[in-house]
Amino acid sequence: MSLQTELETIKDNGLRQIEAATDQKELNQIKVQLLGKKGSITQTLRGIAKLPVEERPTAGSLANQIRDELTTALETKLSALETASLNQKLAAEKIDVTLPGDQIPFGHPHVIQKIIDEIEDIFIGMGYQVLSGPEVEEEHYNFEMMNLPKDHPARDMQDTFYITKEILMRTHTSPMQARALETHDFSQGPLKMISPGVVFRRDTDDPTHSHQFHQVEGIVIDKHITMADLKGTLTAMTHALFGDKFQVRLRPSYFPFTEPSVEADITCMNCGGKGCAVCKGSGWIEVLGAGMVHPNVLKMAGVNPHEYGGFAFGVGPDRFAMLKYGVNDIRDFYLNNLKFLTQFD
Ligand code: DAH
Repeated sequence: MSLQTELETIKDNGLRQIEAATDQKELNQIKVQLLGKKGSITQTLRGIAKLPVEERPTAGSLANQIRDELTTALETKLSALETASLNQKLAAEKIDVTLPGDQIPFGHPHVIQKIIDEIEDIFIGMGYQVLSGPEVEEEHYNFEMMNLPKDHPARDMQDTFYITKEILMRTHTSPMQARALETHDFSQGPLKMISPGVVFRRDTDDPTHSHQFHQVEGIVIDKHITMADLKGTLTAMTHALFGDKFQVRLRPSYFPFTEPSVEADITCMNCGGKGCAVCKGSGWIEVLGAGMVHPNVLKMAGVNPHEYGGFAFGVGPDRFAMLKYGVNDIRDFYLNNLKFLTQFD
């Protein structure tokens, strides 16, 4: 085979291989095979030396021309492969802006928080301020200031988580009565405040007990406040929360920080007052404790009980939520089971 034919064959095969290459790595190997130091063109060029002198220039220039052609073909193919891989990448990353977006799950207020929000709205509408107080409380406020001196038997009513001798997890929101009384400036008008929050008891959890639950405390202190104001206020709250058909009934009770003390019932929402299993046939459901603020509570907070007086109450929003939604296990509110909680979304 003449040198020319050999070169033409290398060129034809080379161009075919270049054309067929599918990626840059393969193309690189072809380049080395054709144009590298040990490549076929170089090998063939060595043969030029053996040709008669007059044939050498023609053969040499043919070899150069073929090398140039192959080089151009390699470069063209390389840029074609690069464009193809870029296009492929772009196609894979393409975003279809017309597709519907992913549904992002939104959070929502806890059902108890919703009830608290409703209660807050009702009382804000009646001119109350909303205060929040410490969950880790001083024994002084939780008990002493609420007219429960050390060794008072009523302390047993509220099993307490103590942190130290003087510091505890508050067992009720009532200490906020004392804190509000201490700081309120009566020259600016009456004290009307509610204070919602979490409270803690050393109870064993069961369907009706939780070691952590909520209360909303309320207190109104002014001159000439009567028990009728208390009943009217509780009735207004009940009507706003449940509807006008619901009534409030007060029964005598005992709390150390009120005198007289009452427990308030509202019409059973399950039977509308006829009597059923939920209200144990009575037609009434107990929902809160209340009373006229004990003179000692006023005195200890620096308020003159001969001049000022009023009422206080403590509501359980957990109980309201259970009644309103027919939940019969209080623990459901605290187990963070989304299947349960999203029902109230
Ligand atoms: N602190 C009481 C409790 O946790 C509830 C209560 C009763 C609050 C009577 C009051 C009240 O403000 O007047 O059981």
